[in-house]
Amino acid sequence: MYSEKVMDHFTNPRNVGEIENADGIGQVGNAKCGDIMKVYLKIENDIIVDVKFKTFGCGAAVATSSMATELIKGKTLDEASKITNKAVTEALGGLPPVKMHCSVLAEEAVIAAIDDYKKKMGMDVPDTRCSGCCGKCGDTRTE
Ligand code: FES
Repeated sequence: MYSEKVMDHFTNPRNVGEIENADGIGQVGNAKCGDIMKVYLKIENDIIVDVKFKTFGCGAAVATSSMATELIKGKTLDEASKITNKAVTEALGGLPPVKMHCSVLAEEAVIAAIDDYKKKMGMDVPDTRCSGCCGKCGDTRTE
């Protein structure tokens, strides 16, 4: 049911924990199951030099969170903010359709943490960005 990579990142998740005095923190809840993910970023010169996460969620949420942190580490804020749950699940070798909603947590928490940092720095934060989890816009990209 799960790819080897998913099992690897679930049983041995990378970057678990929190960063003291993080530059950006994002926490999101999954509207479909109530699970929660929190992402901490350390940012220097626009580059994500460290990232940690905590997920109170299922195995697929843990695996996608782990992979997402690996994908954004060392990236610029611009590069990291283009992360999508599709890219994360592809990097994991796919997820069963019924678990695709779990991957949204990682994408949303990363974006929320970047936005938190930008707000703290007085930078513009696009307000048109879909939150993907409020359910109001009818976004179906995770289905
Ligand atoms: Fe909630 Fe997977 S079932 S994140």
